[in-house]
Amino acid sequence: MRRFITADEIRKASRESDGNERAFIFAEKDDVVTDEARDLARTLGVVISSEISRRPFICANFKMNGGPGFLDKYTAELASCMAQLYPDYRAQADVVIAPPAPLVAVAYGLSAKKTVYSVAGQNSYIKESGAFTGETSPYLLKECGADYVITGHSERRKLFGETDAVVAQKLKTAIDAGLVPIMCLGENLEERKTGKTFAVISQMLTALYAIPLEYAKKVILAYEPVWAIGTGMNASSDQIAEVCAFIRKNIMEKLGVDFSNAIRILYGGSVNETNALEIAVIKGIDGALVGGASLKAVNFAKIISAFKPDRRSGN
Ligand code: PGA
Repeated sequence: MRRFITADEIRKASRESDGNERAFIFAEKDDVVTDEARDLARTLGVVISSEISRRPFICANFKMNGGPGFLDKYTAELASCMAQLYPDYRAQADVVIAPPAPLVAVAYGLSAKKTVYSVAGQNSYIKESGAFTGETSPYLLKECGADYVITGHSERRKLFGETDAVVAQKLKTAIDAGLVPIMCLGENLEERKTGKTFAVISQMLTALYAIPLEYAKKVILAYEPVWAIGTGMNASSDQIAEVCAFIRKNIMEKLGVDFSNAIRILYGGSVNETNALEIAVIKGIDGALVGGASLKAVNFAKIISAFKPDRRSGN
């Protein structure tokens, strides 16, 4: 139900804040903030969540797909689709491709100084270098042109046994290497059915709290319910908004209101060109991590375009 945020509510929030933290009011996308309330919030330093805007971040996760020829064609196609659909996108959004590790340098080269996209690794190791056959150093990813790395994807957690402690170590080393981690978190179907979603999310967030605050500030989160990944069954807008609000509240309690306002939270799990717009307007969601649907450049271009600022005003 839509509510009005009034000056009285701002005064109350300000009175009740303990002085150490800025007062914070959660407001839904449809809630109306009166002009008087907005002005007063500015004067008293009260943050209204619906007044915050974070730069959209849209990342393609190719997983174990594609080769050099595919990437070459893909890059040209994406550039041409974006020129038609959304020519200003590089100024307004972060658009990133996460190809398999051997293609990171190739992608960086093809993107010609990041004019088409920036590049991410899909995973990186907890150490800088050494006798770790088959692992990829985040320092090497950086040297090959990556700016980002996906960390703690559910496939890594499930198939390769990555724990929250390992995720925390990976975050730390990746940031030391100069990368921005995209940390994935989400419940599986069993956990959702048995009402454990929030417990699981809280547990996974411990990786964020295990690293120094200055490091945590660099992290981007991706809420990816495991049951929605690669299944064509994406979570409903209400389910996504609910978990996203839970994540921000949990972070607010641990790291403060400014931190929780600033961190970007993406959604991932069967995002495609048809449902992207619906996802782009969900309160608190700042972008998408896209697997299967990102493999067609034209579809990824449509997904990026769903995050145009004028389409998601007030988010
Ligand atoms: P999907 O994958 O879009 O194919 O569901 C998302 C992801 O795993 O990042």
